[in-house]
Amino acid sequence: MATELLSEYVLEINHISVCFDGFYALTDVTTKVKRNDIHFFIGPNGAGKTTLLDIICAKTKPTQGNIVFNPMYKKPITLTGMKEYKIVWLGIGRKFQVPSVFVNLTVEENMILSLRKGKRIVDTILRKMRDKEVKKIAETLEKVGLSDKRQWRAGALAHGEKQWLEIAMQLVQEPEVIMLDEPAAGMGKPETFKTGVILKEIQKECSIVVIEHDMDFVKQIANRVTVLHEGKILKEGSVAEVLSDSTVQKVYLGRGGE
Ligand SMILES: Nc1ncnc2c1ncn2[C@@H]1O[C@H](COP(=O)(O)OP(=O)(O)OP(=O)(O)O)[C@@H](O)[C@H]1O
Ligand SMILES: [Mg+2]
Repeated sequence: MATELLSEYVLEINHISVCFDGFYALTDVTTKVKRNDIHFFIGPNGAGKTTLLDIICAKTKPTQGNIVFNPMYKKPITLTGMKEYKIVWLGIGRKFQVPSVFVNLTVEENMILSLRKGKRIVDTILRKMRDKEVKKIAETLEKVGLSDKRQWRAGALAHGEKQWLEIAMQLVQEPEVIMLDEPAAGMGKPETFKTGVILKEIQKECSIVVIEHDMDFVKQIANRVTVLHEGKILKEGSVAEVLSDSTVQKVYLGRGGE
């Protein structure tokens, strides 16, 4: 029966190690991401957080280990060794550390492009949108609070709004997993808080993997936290468990994590 295939975990990260010219950026990292959780990876600079996301989306090949994706009502799929675009098609979206919206296009045009990824830009924008697509885009922009700015040039948006647009561009593709690398970087407290509210809303429809340094943000929304340090898992658990751990306090929180 189909329900038997619905694993509690959407991603399984199995014994991942990666070696760059003799330097181990990750060593034997094993963890699981629960379906519809907001799962944080935190840790000092250079801990290997971005590298781990690179490995999940197959931008980087691990030296050892593999990543297994358990899609909804389908058989498990080993992502390791697959092409990056196929992983996107399977339903794993990724927002990179550097923003990547088209600043000269409107908010809506950016959304159309994302929805119709892989087609030629000009054709894509000129083609009349089908009702279903219009509705999907409107609903998604509503979730990130950008409905009123649909016709704005993306370049005219505030920094936080650009980040929310990028999240919307991921979400409109209806992924099962969204991975966000420092979505609150460069944001003030109110914008960071709003990002948290947006992610809590999105959590209802997909699983979220987030890297972030802002501890208030982590406390606001995390279901589970994995602390990486020098490429290894230092501690994993609930926010309270992780933050009260003396080693975590020593290696991370004590030197600028807060
Ligand atoms: N392609 C690469 N070749 C060589 N070394 C790399 C490569 N990618 C990452 N590294 C190294 O691996 C380590 C982990 O880097 P990574 O970017 O994953 O850290 P991070 O936890 O995301 O840090 P930050 O919080 O600064 O973003 C760093 O020492 C980095 O220099
Ligand atoms: Mg990083």
